[in-house]
Amino acid sequence: MEQLVQSKASGHQTAGSIRLVQISDCHLCAAAATLYRGENADAGLLSVLQKIATWQPQLVLASGDLSEDASAASYQRLAGYLQTLGAPVCVLPGNHDNEELMQRYFHRGPWTGPLILQAGAWRLVLLSSVLAGHIEGAISPGDIEQLRDFLETGPQTPVLIALHHQPVPVGAQWIDRYMLRAPEALLGLLADHDEIRALVWGHVHQAFETTIGSTRLLACPSTAANSVAGALHFTRDPAGPACRWLQLKAQGALATGLWSRRATRSDFNQDPTLSAGQNQPENQVNEDAGKGSG
Ligand SMILES: [Fe+2]
Ligand SMILES: [Fe+2]
Repeated sequence: MEQLVQSKASGHQTAGSIRLVQISDCHLCAAAATLYRGENADAGLLSVLQKIATWQPQLVLASGDLSEDASAASYQRLAGYLQTLGAPVCVLPGNHDNEELMQRYFHRGPWTGPLILQAGAWRLVLLSSVLAGHIEGAISPGDIEQLRDFLETGPQTPVLIALHHQPVPVGAQWIDRYMLRAPEALLGLLADHDEIRALVWGHVHQAFETTIGSTRLLACPSTAANSVAGALHFTRDPAGPACRWLQLKAQGALATGLWSRRATRSDFNQDPTLSAGQNQPENQVNEDAGKGSG
C-alpha cells in the first residue's frame, strides 16, 4: 500500500489530519476553447484551482469525467494544471473517460482493481465504477470481493471509499437514471464496517450529502458546469464551478465543505478546527450553506 501523505506529528490544532481536495467532472475537451454545456471547462477548473492552491492540499482526488471527449490532449492539459498544486494526484475514471489514455498521464488510479492508499491515519480505496458502453456504472463482483477482503483483514483505521457513480439517488431525475447498478453490494459493507467514514463520488454535477450509519455519503460538484439540486432536467446552476475539501482527522472525524468560485463571504462558515491553522481556506462553505449551490 502506498503511503501517500504523512500527517504532521505535532503542531497546531490540525495536527494529524490530512487536507484532501476532491475535484470532479472537469469535462475538458481536446481544444481548450470548446465549450461544455455552454461553459469553458478549462476556465472553470482554473478558477477552482486558484482557490484550492491557497489551502495547500496534501492530496488531490479527481473523481472522473475528467475529459469530455476522452482525448489525450485533455488529459495532458489536466495533468499540467494539477501539477501546479504540488500534491500527489489520484484519479478515478468516469463514463466519459478513456482509462487507457488516462493511465499515461495519471499513474494512481484503480487500473488493475481497487487502489488502496494510505493518507495519514486513513486508508483510501479508489474503485472503478465504469461499465463499458454505458452511462450508468457498476462495480465488478471481483472488486467488491477485494474490497471486502481488505476491510476484513486490514487494521481498523478510518477508510474513505471513492468512485465515480452515485450509489444512492441524489434526487435529480436527469442523473439518477444513470447511477451505480446494484449499489447494495457496496452499501451492504457499510453496516459491518463502521471504519468506513466516507463514501465520495462525482458524476451528479451537484452537491449532495447524506449519512448511512457512521458513514458520510458525499457528492462532489463539477469544476465545469453544475445543475441546481433536485432538478428534473439539467438546469444550469449559476453558482458555477465548485469542488469539495475534506479534512481527514487523525481519530477518524471528517470535516468537509464546498468551494464555489462565486460564493460570497456571507455564505462562508469557517470550520473551527482550521481557525488556528496556517493553511486556512480563504472561503469555505459548510454543507448547509453549500447545498443547492452546486
Ligand atoms: Fe460528468
Ligand atoms: Fe459521469
